[in-house]
Amino acid sequence: MTTANSLLLFSVLGIFVFCYFVATRVWIKVDEKHKKTSEDNEKNTRRDFLYLSSMSIGGIGVVTFMWPFVKSMNPAEDTLALGSTEVNLSDILIGQSITVKWRGKPVFIRRRTEEEILEAKNVDLNILKDPMLDEDRVKKEEWLVLEGVCTHLGCVPLGQKMSDTKGEYNGWFCPCHGSHYDSSGRIRKGPAPENLAVPPYKFINETTIKIG
Ligand code: FES
Repeated sequence: MTTANSLLLFSVLGIFVFCYFVATRVWIKVDEKHKKTSEDNEKNTRRDFLYLSSMSIGGIGVVTFMWPFVKSMNPAEDTLALGSTEVNLSDILIGQSITVKWRGKPVFIRRRTEEEILEAKNVDLNILKDPMLDEDRVKKEEWLVLEGVCTHLGCVPLGQKMSDTKGEYNGWFCPCHGSHYDSSGRIRKGPAPENLAVPPYKFINETTIKIG
């Protein structure tokens, strides 16, 4: 169960317990005023018992009624599976890029050339708008994995196809408003405020990554 669903369930239970507690207190106070004779007391005790029993059954009913709704809010197994994507890298040649979908977003995977790796490493961090070392953006320097979403207004930058322009820094170019990213996906020129994001991923073997 997700945190949101747990909160919902506990809220419903909390409201029920609160109402139960308040109703019980009110009932007891009203009863105290009217308990004058032993005959009345006996009647009231029976009434209390009926009252408490019906409240308990009602409570169980509320929880039973709500449970399927709360449960239906959990993501289904197939939805959870979409949260991660495995990608086989073995067919990607040096210098090539592919785009895969992850959670509805394009993810760029580039097998970088020696030249691209060197360019990415030999950058003075002081000149970067969003300073970040290349080594902090990759798990293996040959492989760069990025969310293909411009950090300005969300366009998909060019640079994946061999025929695409890669911008002034040999990475990606966003034609929407002219943002240039380098071969580490860092913003180098234009209005985008941040580097292309690196999604969570890991190598599950030499040639396969799992994103998400
Ligand atoms: S959306 Fe990419 S530069 Fe504006």
